[in-house]
Amino acid sequence: MAPKTWAVESRFWFSDGYSLMKQRRGKRLTVRPLAARDYLVWKQAHTELPPQKNIWDQKIKPIQDLSKIKFREILKSQKALADSDKYLDFSVFLNATGELIGHVALMDIVRGISHSAFLGYRIFNPHWGKSYGKEAVALAIQIAFKDIKLHRIEAGIEPSNRRSIMLARALGLRKEGLKKRAIFLRNQWVDLTIYSATCEDFGIKWQGKTKDRLR
Ligand SMILES: CC(C)(COP(=O)(O)OP(=O)(O)OC[C@H]1O[C@@H](n2cnc3c(N)ncnc32)[C@H](O)[C@@H]1OP(=O)(O)O)[C@@H](O)C(=O)NCCC(=O)NCCS
Repeated sequence: MAPKTWAVESRFWFSDGYSLMKQRRGKRLTVRPLAARDYLVWKQAHTELPPQKNIWDQKIKPIQDLSKIKFREILKSQKALADSDKYLDFSVFLNATGELIGHVALMDIVRGISHSAFLGYRIFNPHWGKSYGKEAVALAIQIAFKDIKLHRIEAGIEPSNRRSIMLARALGLRKEGLKKRAIFLRNQWVDLTIYSATCEDFGIKWQGKTKDRLR
């Protein structure tokens, strides 16, 4: 069962009428789009990152990529993708300190006949093993099913990514099988184990819109 969350009353709207809560606040974390006011917090989080602990971990950014100009480019790109209803990036903040500790995303959003998206998630390694990944992804799932009315979310996980598989299992996602040569990563096609859920699995009735196609 997903942790209880509550939503802050501010929304923006996609062109097709779906509303998106700007943020979801959980017990210890808030998940929301990065905003201009976050520059210093973002820079500090990336400046203090320890070396990568595995190939999926956040890479240290070179100092020139931490400028205000680069940050604005990131905001602009995230906003453009959100406005096109294709990809939603969220940053994960600690409620107690306001510290930025990772990211979650709803990627490759498809309305069409599947109303689905891929889940992306990353917690910065000093914060691993404290159930933050679990809380952050649970909040992203609430946004996916309640706010933007998706029906299905899928996590595509490389079979050797044990921590991510443990996280998917801890959230109650269902193992669906191995998708062969699913995505192009690190200069090669890699297999992904798919873990998924539909809104019904979280006790949420699907309330999206269907569109009739002209023939
Ligand atoms: C995968 C990742 C997000 C997990 O974040 P996290 O905050 O450490 O995860 P959590 O602490 O919420 O742990 C989730 C579950 O994993 C398991 N787990 C926690 N620590 C673990 C460890 N050291 N070893 C194995 N399993 C562990 C537990 O079952 C836990 O569930 P619980 O909290 O109910 O006990 C994080 O390791 C990460 O960012 N990795 C790099 C990016 C990445 O791999 N992204 C996913 C790509 S598909």
